[in-house]
Amino acid sequence: MTTQQLVMAMNSKLDSDIMITGIWQVPDSFNARYSAISRTYIYLLARKRTPLNRLYTGYISGKEIAIEDLRAMSEVLKGSHNFTSLSKNNPAIPNHNCNISSFIIEEIKGKNIIYVAGGIGLIPLRSSIVHALQHRNEFGRIIVLLGARTPKDLMYQYNIEEWLKIPGFECYVTVDQPTDGWTGHTGFVNSLIDKANIPVENTVAFVCGPPVMFNSVINDLMKRGLKDDCIISTLERHMKCGIGKCQHCAIGRTLVCTDGPVYTYKQIKTLGEEI
Ligand code: FES
Repeated sequence: MTTQQLVMAMNSKLDSDIMITGIWQVPDSFNARYSAISRTYIYLLARKRTPLNRLYTGYISGKEIAIEDLRAMSEVLKGSHNFTSLSKNNPAIPNHNCNISSFIIEEIKGKNIIYVAGGIGLIPLRSSIVHALQHRNEFGRIIVLLGARTPKDLMYQYNIEEWLKIPGFECYVTVDQPTDGWTGHTGFVNSLIDKANIPVENTVAFVCGPPVMFNSVINDLMKRGLKDDCIISTLERHMKCGIGKCQHCAIGRTLVCTDGPVYTYKQIKTLGEEI
């Protein structure tokens, strides 16, 4: 069994709130808690309450998050500190000093945003596009790559015409079965990635569409250099109970109705099932 297969097998048996992302060989004396030489914690904060990532995100309702102030405050915490007052009393562990080596405080604000939609995949992305365009100055390039089977399957054409009036908004459209009169691009939506010359640095991509599109788009985004935690997708599935009981929406070890539907590609890779 390969390491990757072992990761998938173990994740399929774990609860949804814990995930193994890698495996390394260690000595038999290794203790996951006491032998770890470093840990990374990720905290997510949102300005608005949203169903997306609702189980993993804190909310600061209606208030701005002062990113620069947070960065300045985090400097105070860097270095070696005594954490005795936050530790459980355990005489076997006399040293409660920990070294905080770095804080990385980031926000999507200021980044380039790429939306890749196939067919009706534009529906769940639409509200995010509208929000980004309403706050146009807060982002870099805003690019929509949209594919459909035929010209008449292209969604929100009226909206797109309106969005294109907003300076800096870019939209590239393709169909894979052109009909009479179609003069635009022909091919699958991933063929637009090079055409749009999408940026890689400081960029997040939101991908939504049928599975056959999903894999080719993700492959091409990764080939271009986007990192797996900067690619975000929604894994909508036919749902029945919607409360995590019937398993109808299961993909590998995750239940889309309660854990998702939004995942980073970094998470999707470890779900234990091909998408
Ligand atoms: S729809 Fe029933 S478990 Fe998700």
